[in-house]
Amino acid sequence: LTAAEHRAGPIGYGLLVLAATGAPALGARLTRATLPSLSRRRLLALALLTQGVALILAGLVLDFVLVLLLTVLAGLAAGIVVSAGRTLLAQEVEEARLPKVTEHLFAVLRAVVAAALVAVPLIAAAYGDVEYGTVEPGSFTFIHGGAALAVATSGLLTLVLAAVVLLRTDDRRGTAPFVRDLVDSVRGSSGPVPHRGAGTGFFIALEGGDGAGKSTQAQALAEWIRGKGHEVVLTREPGGSPVGQRLRGLVLDVGNTGLSHRAEALIYAADRAEHVENVIRPALARGAVVITDRYMDSSIAYQGAGRDLAATEVARISRWATGGLLPDLTVVLDVDPTRARERFTEALDRLESEPTEFHQRVRAGFLALAAADPARYLVVDGSQAPGFVTTAIRHRLDRELPLSEQEKAARAEQERLAKEEAERRAAEEARKKAEAEAAERKRQELLAQLRAEQAEKERLAEEEAERAAAEARRKAEEEARR
Ligand code: TMP
Repeated sequence: LTAAEHRAGPIGYGLLVLAATGAPALGARLTRATLPSLSRRRLLALALLTQGVALILAGLVLDFVLVLLLTVLAGLAAGIVVSAGRTLLAQEVEEARLPKVTEHLFAVLRAVVAAALVAVPLIAAAYGDVEYGTVEPGSFTFIHGGAALAVATSGLLTLVLAAVVLLRTDDRRGTAPFVRDLVDSVRGSSGPVPHRGAGTGFFIALEGGDGAGKSTQAQALAEWIRGKGHEVVLTREPGGSPVGQRLRGLVLDVGNTGLSHRAEALIYAADRAEHVENVIRPALARGAVVITDRYMDSSIAYQGAGRDLAATEVARISRWATGGLLPDLTVVLDVDPTRARERFTEALDRLESEPTEFHQRVRAGFLALAAADPARYLVVDGSQAPGFVTTAIRHRLDRELPLSEQEKAARAEQERLAKEEAERRAAEEARKKAEAEAAERKRQELLAQLRAEQAEKERLAEEEAERAAAEARRKAEEEARR
């Protein structure tokens, strides 16, 4: 209908269909690369916003080429909406239920699209052509077809949806304002940039609120990984180095009330710089597996999301302090702070004593970081029994942890045995085949011999018969003569 209203002809119609179907597919593919440091929830809201505005404009502009371009933009945004939505879903729904929930949501989506295909032309018809003003030059005129108005209406509804998503699910509210976060993401300055190159080891960070069970998991994982034959360095922040120990005392001392937030952030960063330089990097260079109980994300969540500092700035300080060293895998143990509090047995330190709202923001901060980079994160429900949590982490590590020398040797031995077995089987098979061939050859020879004997017999019998016949003829002739 839009193509018809613009008198775009069959080519225009084809281009419009191409834009409306191809752009979403392209958008879905580009989602990961789109503002990677922006939280996926914010990206979802932003994409909805873009889609809404593009649709409204597509309904209002009169130039068909512009309509096409705006349709491409709306389509790209729609692809990002679906793809970012999927990522968020994977983040929030238990793995076992995920396929079912996804299937259900996509069924709903298909039903909505089908309903829209029927409803939108009807809405367009209900609008009919709308004309305001006069056509005299210089005066305001508003002349639009029903289809254009229906498109603009759908854009308006999308904007409402964007607002709901932003208000109801924004995970960084209270930390970085949306616009600043967006500007930072566009500049590419927020969130750490993946970086390895500290040797052949493997770097795991355990993160989460206080009382999430990180130390228990760190111990269990260390034991399991050691069992595989790796050297494991189990460490923590703050306090993973001798200087770090003193910084830990300083920053957690309840006596230091009123410590400025920036000073607090810098003490954690100083501890981290020392930790990375003297403990983590040397261990990774040796090829060890490093498990740290807290790392950079704790600063971004506690000092960024929890306090009033900008998460992007806190991240930048940490990046500088660590020379950009990022974990290969960050495991976020997620628990509701009120439930986690029940696990505390000792006197609360300076940060643990913060109110529940602070810890709620910290929790949201961790989840936002994980949602922004699912490939490098694993979020596990920390309220489950410790054994279940360990199993979930082990599943992921099974896929990502490099093989230890011991495992490599065992695997090589296994391969050698398998090869030997295959060779033995092949030899056995060849021997059997040779035997069978020899037997067959013998059989053929015998058969040939029998045939030759038979032929010889037949030849003799024929000769005998001929001779008898000749004799009979001779006798008969003799008889006749007589
Ligand atoms: P821990 O008790 O888990 O060792 O951590 C000590 C406290 O320090 C904990 O409440 C979280 C807090 N913390 C930060 O606020 N920022 C950071 O960067 C780190 C590593 C910890």
